[in-house]
Parts: sequence; C-alpha cells; structure tokens
Amino acid sequence: MCGIVGYIGEKQAYPVLINGLHRLEYRGYDSSGITLINGGINSYKQKGKVASLEDFVKDKNIEGKAGIAHTRWATHGVPNDVNAHPHVSNSKELSIVHNGIIENYETLKKELINRGYTFESDTDTEVLINLIEDIKIKEKVDLVEAVRIALNSVIGAYAIVIASTDNPDMLIAARKGSPLVVGIGDGEFYLASDATPIIEHTKQVVYLEDEEIAIIRKGQDLELKTIKNKKRNPYVQELEMNLNALEKQGYDHFMLKEIYEQTDSIKDSMRGRLNPETWEVRLGGILDYEQKMVNAKRILIIACGTSWHAGLVGEYLFEEMARIPVEVEYASEFRYRNPIITEDDVVIAISQSGETADTLAAIELAKSKGATILGVCNVVGSSIARVTDAGSYTHAGPEIGVASTKAFTAQVTILTLMALRIAKLKGSLSASKYQQIINELYNIPAKVEQALKTDKEVEKIAYKFKDSKNFLYLGRGFNFPVALEGALKLKEISYIHAEGYPAAEMKHGPIALIDEDMPTVVIGTNKSIYDKVISNIQEIKARSGVIIAVVPIGDETIKEIADYTIEVPETHEFLDPLINTIPLQLLSYHIAVMRGCNVDQPRNLAKSVTVE
Ligand code: G6P
Repeated sequence: MCGIVGYIGEKQAYPVLINGLHRLEYRGYDSSGITLINGGINSYKQKGKVASLEDFVKDKNIEGKAGIAHTRWATHGVPNDVNAHPHVSNSKELSIVHNGIIENYETLKKELINRGYTFESDTDTEVLINLIEDIKIKEKVDLVEAVRIALNSVIGAYAIVIASTDNPDMLIAARKGSPLVVGIGDGEFYLASDATPIIEHTKQVVYLEDEEIAIIRKGQDLELKTIKNKKRNPYVQELEMNLNALEKQGYDHFMLKEIYEQTDSIKDSMRGRLNPETWEVRLGGILDYEQKMVNAKRILIIACGTSWHAGLVGEYLFEEMARIPVEVEYASEFRYRNPIITEDDVVIAISQSGETADTLAAIELAKSKGATILGVCNVVGSSIARVTDAGSYTHAGPEIGVASTKAFTAQVTILTLMALRIAKLKGSLSASKYQQIINELYNIPAKVEQALKTDKEVEKIAYKFKDSKNFLYLGRGFNFPVALEGALKLKEISYIHAEGYPAAEMKHGPIALIDEDMPTVVIGTNKSIYDKVISNIQEIKARSGVIIAVVPIGDETIKEIADYTIEVPETHEFLDPLINTIPLQLLSYHIAVMRGCNVDQPRNLAKSVTVE
C-alpha cells in the first residue's frame, strides 16, 4: 500500500524516480509526488495518477541527483494535492515519504502545535517530519540521531525515506511493519517499497528489517543501525526477478497477461517439487515441519481476500486427503477475537504480497501461543515469509494487476502439494487415488491452457451481460470457493455487485433476488454431486433466472437447461478450482474492459494492504 522510491547518486534522479513510481503504481494511485534535492528542496505533488504528476512538472525544475517520491493510497486525509507525499518540515529543510500509519500522531501533533509548529495537511506523515525537525533543533543532534529518537516515540507502522537540504548527499530510510528495500549500485543507491523499481538498475539489494535505520551516503558504504542504536551489518542479496515479468509484453493489461501466464506459473509452483515418475512430492521449505503437520490436531489457515479463498480450497484439500481438521479464518477477525490456539496447531498463512498487515498481526498472535507457522507467499523476502517458521514460495512471478489471478492458482497448487505430501506420510489416501491426483496435477498446466481457449466464447457472454447490475455465483464443494473468487473478481474490477454462495444455500435468501435480469454463474463440474447442482440450476430456471454454466467439455445435461455454457477440460474434482477459476477471471476481465473500467488499478483498491 503506497509506493516509495528514492535515489541518490551521480545520475539525474527524476527519471529514476518517475519510472519507479510507474512500477509501483499498483500499490496505490490516488495521488503522487516527488522531492528533488538541488541546493534547496523542489517538491511537486498532484492528485490522481503518476501521469498527472508528470504533466504537472513539465515546466518545473526537475534537476537534482538525489530525491524521493511516493504514490499514495490514502489513509489519513482525502486524496488531494496537499495530503499527497512528500511532506516537508516547517523549516523546508526536510522532506519525507512514508508508508504505514503513525497511530499516536494526534498526541504528537498537539504537542508540536503547542511548540509553534503549523500543519498544511491532515496526514500523520507531516507530523512525523516535524517531530524529527523539532528533536533535531531541541536536542541539538544530527539528523540521523533525530530520526532515531523520533522513531522511538512513535507508535505504529512505517517505511520512511528522508531527504534534507543540510545533507544533500545523504538519504535516511527506516522501516517497521512496512517493507523497504535498498538497491546498491556503483556509487549510487536506490530505495523502494519493493524491488520492482530497482531491478532495472541493480540486482544487489538489502531488505531492511523492522526497526532498522539505513544511512545512505552517496559514494560510501551502506550503514545500518537499529532504533536502539545497535550497529547492523547489511545482508546483501541477489535479486532473481526478471524485468520481462514487470512489462505488459503486448497484452492490453497486466491482468490479462497474468491470466494467460497461469500455464507457466502453475508449472513454476510445481517445479522441482513434483516428480511424476516417482510420484514424490518434495517441498524443501517445509521438510523439517512435515512431522509437525502429520501430528497436527488442527490446521488453521489465515489469510485475506483472494488468498482467503485459496485457503478455503486448502480446507477441502487437507480434510479430503490428509484427514486433518481445518479452520479457515479471515486474519482481520482472527486477530481481534480470543482464538483458542495450542502448540499442536499448525497455522498456514497465505499471502501473495507477504505484507498484509492483518495477516502479519494474526501470525504474531498465533506465534505467541506457540503454534507452528508456515507461510505460502509469492513475494520472496517479504515480511510474512520472514516471520514464519518455514514455508513454500508460490513462485508465480510478480503479480502487478491489483486483482489477484495467477497468485491464486499458485497458492492452490502449493496447498495441493502440501496436502498430498502429508496424506502420503499419514497414509490417509489410497495409493491409487494418490497417484491419480498426482498425474492429474502434472497435467493441470496443459488443461489450464485449454481452459484459456474459452476466451473468445467468454468474451461473447461478457458482452451480453456487461450492463447487468447484479450477479450471483454458485458452486458446491471444491467449486464453492471458486464461486466466491469469481464474484470477488467481478466486483473488484467491474464494480458490478456480485455474490458468491454455496449453491444449495441459495434457497435461504439469494433465491429471492432471482429474475430475468439477474445472471447466475453456476460452476457445474462436480462429478460427485452433479445431480445436486442440476437441481439448483432447475430451481433458478423455474424463476426465470438466466444461467451461465461452467461445465466439463462434452456435457449434455446442463447444456440443455443453461442459457450459456463455458466448456472446460475435465480433471479430478479436487483440482477443479485450478481450471474453473480461469473462465471466471476472463469473464470479469472482459466485462470490466467493456464497461471502460481501469482493470489493473480498480478504484479504491490496493495490491498490498499494509494497514489494518
Ligand atoms: C488486497 C488485494 C487482493 C488480495 C488481498 C490479500 O485486497 O487487492 O488481491 O487478495 O489484499 O493480499 P495478500 O497479499 O495477503 O494475498
């Protein structure tokens, strides 16, 4: 949530910063701004997308070899030019960009107002930079020390970068609960809230740890210390990310590219982990915790949004195959009730970004009660990946579209592998069923490719329903989470109201909504309860409802009753979500495009939700 970029070196900072903001725009896009250090501070801020900022600075002085920039997802104060970052201190000597929330900002602000400080914006960030300035003057300390003291008195989360006119060859950065990466170039440094803006400049990066301060001086070595004043040695890592993954590569939108990437991303999730010849599953990251899982009295899955839907699929997978009771929890609910957690529980935290604030807090809570915590994250080196005991990366590659697509299928793939492995160790699945599922899983990428061929057909259906006001999505068993995910995708990017329901539960309320204007998407591929799904379709047809059904290729029965059908390749029922999600992603995508919506950056949403 919110994107930070910083640069200091021998190049002009503006092109680096603006390009970085474009790369990070998926994190927040309601306003943006830039500060360049060139003798004094030149700060420019604009409401709207980064392109508005670019327009605004066309005739401005954008010289400077050091600078900081920000693209915002508003928390404190409406999105406007004044609340946009960077914020400057009263003396105009210091400038800051900030992600996160300073929770005690009101108290600090009152104290600063009493000491004569004035504020232009409604933000907590402007309070922080003036607090730093006040400490610097009052305590007669240098800027680094002032930042350190200030960070000891703030409550909340932050990733910050500070530039100053007094020290034009230095940037100061710090983090707590919000990610920040330093890229190390040749006599120059790059800063960003994730590695995407850095990759085209350098592969050498240092991920800051919580409560670390980075002192970044042009031409000198990176210096790290904690807010308790302990020196730290920077741990330099090599980025493995590929620049192509950050480009649209001919697709109109990142979302479409990412939908199409799923044949490869699912393969990448399985790569080196599934051996179809020996039928062995090997998840290196959790090897030491397999026995813990086998003996677990319960598995708790915690996640938010689309990752929570993957968690629901995980519940079906673990219970069916490994016969371990599973509870799937919204991280935001879990953390604020008084959950019963024991040392025999294994928690699986699922997160694409690995930064979701609620999921992180839920992990900390479960950890404090002694549970074993495993992570399923996409972003390598992310906070969740680092605080968990162990885990498996999904390896789906960077997901830029705000609506999650390939991350979902990668998460489901990993959960399938985990459940299979534990089932094998427990002996809870017959050998023939185990082999059958392994074979099917191995063939899933090819079947996903086939499912993607429904694109043209789905586009025609999208055209018919693009003006609908409401949609209902129904599925049973493994297809119930698919229905939830289908509905979420549609509302996120097309702003059409959509609800996902277990098909039979429809009778307890949603059926009242059915009429000729309410399309219902039914996922009808379940073999074991096929007849039940047909009954649900009949109930809707009897009330003049319109049915769009996802069915196995060659299906005759549903085809006869449904108004529209989308035929997908058959697979084992346990793997249905990996196939059936594809046409639903495409349906949302086409409807959103036809409605003129911004598919990759839907209103009000952010890719990585680092506030609760
Ligand atoms: C945001 C994103 C969703 C995502 C959810 C959880 O709402 O827009 O796409 O599913 O956060 O994010 P995570 O990174 O934890 O999977």
